[in-house]
Amino acid sequence: MRDAYIVTSVRTPGCRRVKGAFKDTRPEDLLSFILGAAVDKTPGLEKKDVEDLMIGCSFPEAEQGLNIGRIAGQIAGFPEAVSGATINRFCSSGLEAIAQASLRVMAGWSEVTIGGGVESMTYVPMGGNLPRPHPEYSRTQADLYASMGITAENVAKRYEVSREAQDEFAYQSQMKAAAAQKDGRFTEIVPTPAARYVLTADGTYRKETFLQEVDDGVRATTTVEGLAKLNPVFAVNGTVTAGNASQTTDGAAASIIASEAALQQLGLKPIAKLKCYTTVGCKADEMGVGPAYAIPKVLQMAGVDIKDVGLFEINEAFASQAIYCIRELGLENQMEKINVNGGAIALGHPLGCTGAKLCATLLHNMQARGVKYGVESMCIGGGMGAAALFELCE
Ligand SMILES: CC(C)(COP(=O)(O)OP(=O)(O)OC[C@H]1O[C@@H](n2cnc3c(N)ncnc32)[C@H](O)[C@@H]1OP(=O)(O)O)[C@@H](O)C(=O)NCCC(=O)NCCS
Repeated sequence: MRDAYIVTSVRTPGCRRVKGAFKDTRPEDLLSFILGAAVDKTPGLEKKDVEDLMIGCSFPEAEQGLNIGRIAGQIAGFPEAVSGATINRFCSSGLEAIAQASLRVMAGWSEVTIGGGVESMTYVPMGGNLPRPHPEYSRTQADLYASMGITAENVAKRYEVSREAQDEFAYQSQMKAAAAQKDGRFTEIVPTPAARYVLTADGTYRKETFLQEVDDGVRATTTVEGLAKLNPVFAVNGTVTAGNASQTTDGAAASIIASEAALQQLGLKPIAKLKCYTTVGCKADEMGVGPAYAIPKVLQMAGVDIKDVGLFEINEAFASQAIYCIRELGLENQMEKINVNGGAIALGHPLGCTGAKLCATLLHNMQARGVKYGVESMCIGGGMGAAALFELCE
């Protein structure tokens, strides 16, 4: 197979569901903006050079429904001939989209593709607008429909992850994110137009646009004592709180993927190669353990030792599952390699966008630090894990 090179990887800020900067910005606008921005940030590339847009979305309905991969491409001004698809594997959708877009290039079926993701959890809540579990199987296989928060409680109980450990992890996530913001380390963010509606004197609303430059869920003033005071939200006597769970968030992200021939023809400079991607199933009622299986699997496929991985982005769906996975992977003494700019507890987890968002963060950090191998991984609702290995280009 040929190599698939990622030449650009960018994201919008992640903003809090309903309370944040993108609460009035439709998902098509977030996605079309970041698709256009990815091309603009790739000297030598034009929209017509892209063959297909693969877009992850976890609840592809209503405003982000129909086929947002096609619709947003057209809104962004890609020529009619540039096709688009929407891909759903819940929390790994954005990474799945990058992997599928890469496979097109690896197979020799495309020269340039885009993989990305979008989720407006404001417009389409988690679970969708009208969940309709199967009336019979939801009794016999209820775990497949379980609340993600309950699965996080299960991991905490079964594998003895204490409330204190979860809160400490959450505190560290917030501190890392706040420091990265202060130091200007989120170089993968493209300031993104956001809409707001302003009440005018005649009682009607005027639409205004402003530029949103930062992730707005980071709480720099977080303390361990403050976190300890929060009530559990998913179970009586539980340990999972609003402070140690990922935030619900709006955002979009995109990566441009090219073959070696396209690099040469268009004069593109690659950041990294996607070496390997994999998924694996696990128990649905403890779906958070997914990365503990997916990461060893992808590394074995690639023949790379975990010791040689310089950076990890392990999605913080919940502190309980992230701690468990880090422990199982034997990485608890290497926290300096994991989620170095903070994770979803501080920065948010815009479901179908997350895989594409973490790719942008990981690749920018690999570049900034000269790290050869980086791993991205996440747990997935329904009981799965996904992991990808990226190799920095010289
Ligand atoms: C846990 C959850 C229900 C909380 O939702 P929420 O109440 O909207 O959460 P918020 O972030 O608005 O926080 C609520 C309150 O908790 C407190 N809080 C949150 N984080 C805090 C922190 N770091 N320090 C102190 N207080 C904090 C604040 O009082 C906050 O209210 P405020 O925003 O008015 O200040 C929601 O974030 C959730 O469902 N997360 C998991 C998402 C998920 O399952 N994703 C898929 C994973 S597979």
